[in-house]
Amino acid sequence: MTLIEWRKEFETGVAEVDHEHQELVELINELHDQIAADAPREKVSEFLGEVFAKISAHFALEETVMRKYDYDEYADHKADHEKLLDDLRDIMDDFEADTGTDYKTALSAAVRDWFVNHFKTKDARLHSKLGV
Ligand SMILES: [Fe+2]
Ligand SMILES: [Fe+2]
Repeated sequence: MTLIEWRKEFETGVAEVDHEHQELVELINELHDQIAADAPREKVSEFLGEVFAKISAHFALEETVMRKYDYDEYADHKADHEKLLDDLRDIMDDFEADTGTDYKTALSAAVRDWFVNHFKTKDARLHSKLGV
């Protein structure tokens, strides 16, 4: 089952941003499928690293844009980004330590609920306000 279905309401109206968001969603869905299919640990680990890198790069891009335009909600938006990266880091640490934590559920919850909300609120505002 697909973890995140792309919905019209995720669109910001900025083609490049929507494209990057779509790529992130696809990558996360792929990771979710691999985990569901009980892919080998090395594979999941590699994928987690890739997802983390792509998400970090996307956030860094948005933060650069916000600084450039002196965006009014920069601190708040950045804090939201950091929270997701922290959550992902915790999940990756748990996974690597093999503590028996239910990382599948943790990952789905962190990524889906958080990501979907962030798209619809913070990113939608950012992109509509700045037009970038
Ligand atoms: Fe974004
Ligand atoms: Fe964002």
